[in-house]
Amino acid sequence: MKSLSILFTIFSAARGATAVPPPGPDGKYTLTAEGIRAQVNFVPMSIKWIGLTGLWQFIPFGAAITNLFVEDKNGVERDIVVGFDNAADYPPSALGHFGEIPGRYAGRIGNGQYTIDGVTYSTEKNNGNNTLHSGNNGWGFRTFEVVALTEASITFHIRDASNSSIGMLGDVDGYISYTLTPKSWKVKMSATAPDTHKTPLMLTQHTYWSLDAFSNPTTDLILDHSYYMPFSQRILEPDPNMLPTGQILSIPEGDINDFWSKPKLVGTDRNSPLWKSNCGDGCEGGYNNCWIVDKLGSQATEPVATLSSGWSGIKVDIYTDQVGMQVYSCNWVGDKMPIKKTQGGPGAATNGLMKPSGCIALEAQDWSDGINHPEWGRKQVYGPGETYIWEATYKFSTLED
Ligand SMILES: *[C@@H]1O[C@H](CO)[C@@H](O)[C@H](O)[C@H]1NC(C)=O
Ligand SMILES: *[C@@H]1O[C@H](CO)[C@@H](O)[C@H](O)[C@H]1NC(C)=O
Repeated sequence: MKSLSILFTIFSAARGATAVPPPGPDGKYTLTAEGIRAQVNFVPMSIKWIGLTGLWQFIPFGAAITNLFVEDKNGVERDIVVGFDNAADYPPSALGHFGEIPGRYAGRIGNGQYTIDGVTYSTEKNNGNNTLHSGNNGWGFRTFEVVALTEASITFHIRDASNSSIGMLGDVDGYISYTLTPKSWKVKMSATAPDTHKTPLMLTQHTYWSLDAFSNPTTDLILDHSYYMPFSQRILEPDPNMLPTGQILSIPEGDINDFWSKPKLVGTDRNSPLWKSNCGDGCEGGYNNCWIVDKLGSQATEPVATLSSGWSGIKVDIYTDQVGMQVYSCNWVGDKMPIKKTQGGPGAATNGLMKPSGCIALEAQDWSDGINHPEWGRKQVYGPGETYIWEATYKFSTLED
């Protein structure tokens, strides 16, 4: 990371001590740590010059992770997150919130409205009659500023002015920090509402995973990935538009939504008549549901979710302080989303485009639409003097470890 340090020094000198260098030529910022590398919107100074075993890249658009390279069980580096090759490809994309931070209120708001202190606010209905990820100008459609950058960490800031997302009143300051340590990615988000106005606040990290990096010669889907949520024996009952009805259901052992009794392949129930109806109207089949994580405490000492692939041998364990997990198996992103140049490769079972069930998003968050269910007792409204916090750590290993 010498080049980046030098750049940083140059820019610091030119623009003041707090200035951070621009991204690489592809618009991405590259961070590295032993065994891992990541890319956020950094303009590519080419990843070659780093020459180490872990690299991650991030971009200011949506504070998104664009690339995350870890070694598979054979020591081959795989880029296991879905995204675009260039930062410039993100803004026009309505295909999904790839690696981004939806905000200021992630997930659905039923009927595009919520009530605080007896006043009802109307939000943008961009998902049937509901609001999804705060509408068409949520944080996933905004460009954040980079306020801190080191070799292994980056911090984004957004000043979300009142009503920038329609019906979300009061300013909000949000900070997203990504920090890499060996084979581990730590995400910390905080947000405050400095005005007198109370506002909904609920964030998530919306990475879409393909632990085979679309390189598996037998499948380009995630149906053979194994998934496990040992603390999730309850689920929010969805209506046909995947809006929670308010009912909380227990998940019997062996149910299509049972990932608690033992690890299960994501596609185990693909031939079940429930496969289609489980994810709502118009869905190709699979998952788009909010599980409850009954694991008390701040950052749990055991992972609340584990995803792995036998083919690549890559495993990710998710630790979080969040009490819900929205699992989305990419039912609607198929056939339009090009896979990156860093994925696929010779012999891969892909035509260059992602398909339904081609990836899976694991969105640690609070209970979906809790703002409209006071009976659940969730805290999803914040006012002056209060700080919203979200934390998760993603730990990577291989099944042979
Ligand atoms: C939206 O709400 C209207 C009025 O209640 C209803 O007629 C319509 O079917 C709803 N649309 C969807 C997609 O649920
Ligand atoms: C918020 O923005 C919408 C769309 O521009 C506008 O119709 C509405 O009046 C605004 N609300 C407030 C409280 O300013």
